[in-house]
Amino acid sequence: MIVDRLGRRFRNLRVSLTAACNYACTYCVPDGKRLLRAKHELPATKLLKAVTMLQQATGIDKVRVTGGEPLVTPKFDEFLLGVMRLPLSDVSLTTNGQLLLAKKDVIAESSLSRINVSLDTLNPLRFKQIARGGDLDTVLSGIDAMLELGLKVKINMVPLRSQNFAEVPAMLNYCLDRGIELRFIELMRMGHLLHSNSFTSEFVSMESLLDSIGEHHEFVRTDAPYDSTAVRFQIPDRGVFGIIANESEPFCRACTRLRLSSDGFLYGCLSNANKHYIGDMLELPSHLVLPKLQGMLVQALGDKKLAFQGEVTVMKLIGG
Ligand code: 5AD
Repeated sequence: MIVDRLGRRFRNLRVSLTAACNYACTYCVPDGKRLLRAKHELPATKLLKAVTMLQQATGIDKVRVTGGEPLVTPKFDEFLLGVMRLPLSDVSLTTNGQLLLAKKDVIAESSLSRINVSLDTLNPLRFKQIARGGDLDTVLSGIDAMLELGLKVKINMVPLRSQNFAEVPAMLNYCLDRGIELRFIELMRMGHLLHSNSFTSEFVSMESLLDSIGEHHEFVRTDAPYDSTAVRFQIPDRGVFGIIANESEPFCRACTRLRLSSDGFLYGCLSNANKHYIGDMLELPSHLVLPKLQGMLVQALGDKKLAFQGEVTVMKLIGG
């Protein structure tokens, strides 16, 4: 097994199907920019081969399908159906939800059991201001469709001081009423935020969130699994919520994540732009791929930082 001196190993793989996105969220892309597909994106067959090889090389057993926005690419259907057939302990999907209705049938066919939808507001105008694409009602209908299918739904919300922080109680109620786990993601110093004043002015800490929630609900902190990035809380008789407290309670020391970009690069750390190309190995027979891949995985594991320092490019390409 490939393990580093902190005992970290790769267990969770996040596969970005495309770098393209139909939103342009203010915290992700600078004004006037949009996320486009990468020049040489791999087809579903190669991404699936990569997952299989990574499972054999390093014992990956959980996969998250992400982007960009994974539902905008035509290879989504083939990848989802294919990855669900692999012997993994868990597959999930992170999406902005805009195309969930359109993809309802293939999601049902795949037997996917859980999904994370990114949703920062329940206010249609604010939605347009933050996401700069798509529309709120379509996302809400998509979420309803997933609940009807019986999927376990989590919602990711990035609280921003001047934009949606006041909506925290309303978002939480919306989720509690539907049996959805809300996960607040503390704003991260990614992309243009790394060198911008808006990170400091918009950042909302775990403490502020808990103060805001505490005005409406009693809650207790509960245990989360070892490699979970979220701190979890229980509101008795109502449900749970989580906080991905990247700044307040960093989780780098227990990180088990490996990322594969849509154009075939492995990234060992969200806070490190180092990358390792595996796209050209994927046609070789497995016995030739595995030793090469293991060498690269040692390097990728060495890319893991001890603390999150921020990074300019990685998040958009590989979806957090
Ligand atoms: N800080 C925190 N969360 C972010 N996301 C994208 N960029 C950032 C950032 N700079 C979130 C998205 C999505 C998840 C994968 O990451 O909103 O929910």
